[in-house]
Amino acid sequence: MTAAVTVWERGRLDARVGPRQVLFGRMYEDASIELEAFRPGGRILCIASAGCTAMKLAPQHEVVAVDINPVQLDYAARRINGDPGFRGRAERVMDFARFFAPLAGWWPSRVRAFVELDDPIEQMEYWQRQLNTWRFRTALDGLFSVTALRSVYSSPLLDFLPKHLGAVMRARMERCFAKHPNRSNPYARSLLLGELSPEPPPPEAKDIRLVHADAAGFLENEAPASFDGFTLSNILDGVDDAYRRRLLAAVKRAAAPGAATVLRSFSDRSANSIANRASDDRAMLWGSVLVRPVAEL
Ligand SMILES: C[S@@+](CC[C@H](N)C(=O)[O-])C[C@H]1O[C@@H](n2cnc3c(N)ncnc32)[C@H](O)[C@@H]1O
Repeated sequence: MTAAVTVWERGRLDARVGPRQVLFGRMYEDASIELEAFRPGGRILCIASAGCTAMKLAPQHEVVAVDINPVQLDYAARRINGDPGFRGRAERVMDFARFFAPLAGWWPSRVRAFVELDDPIEQMEYWQRQLNTWRFRTALDGLFSVTALRSVYSSPLLDFLPKHLGAVMRARMERCFAKHPNRSNPYARSLLLGELSPEPPPPEAKDIRLVHADAAGFLENEAPASFDGFTLSNILDGVDDAYRRRLLAAVKRAAAPGAATVLRSFSDRSANSIANRASDDRAMLWGSVLVRPVAEL
């Protein structure tokens, strides 16, 4: 067995030495994908992060949620117990960007009116007329330039990203606005207005098992054929091939017959795969959301 590990173990987005942080106050992954991908009643492994996916799955599944960052895992535990939580590093980076949004014509009233729309055709008209301005496009390109990102994120978390990230992110936003009604999309609210979803945990959340572990190391020690589903967030973004192989081998070993996987990535590498459901993910940010049977990994 290889000792392959992951950059996420540091519990920080930046390259500085310092204590681990709560990185995500909420998850930006649309768990309706998982609810469709996994047969009800199964045993599912998920990444804990802010606890959102675990709580969405808990009413229909036995959920084991692992996280390599103990600070993030404690935060998920608090949320699962009903604490509303707070803004993590990721939300504070987005708050910083939103602070300058009026300079690009994104006045709060204008953005709020957009978020209240519920017809994708009307949304795209409004988007092109009011929000997708030259100043917005220039600002987004600057925000997502490698130089700007390097001041916030460590380099393994950037190397896999597509070139021209500003244009790529704009296209992903438009893909979502053209397909999903904004008004009922909690991720449009959180991304554009900075509102954290107030949804309380379901009663079944008390049964979620939280484990402080690396996903690969955890699965290597579980019984073979003991999980029916795996949702792995984007934990393979920014890792080397050795860790990727190690994790996929551990998933295959722990998978029961017919088990399914969901794997997200910010990169565009698997965007053309027929397993890619990124356009169905209302969190809108992903290059790929691969939904596959374990047998096809
Ligand atoms: C991959 S990050 C990305 C954020 C995510 N897309 C979201 O919206 O919450 C989510 C979480 O994965 C955890 N993580 C990353 N690699 C992991 C691994 N190999 N095993 C367990 N947890 C991991 C991080 O600590 C973090 O809390």
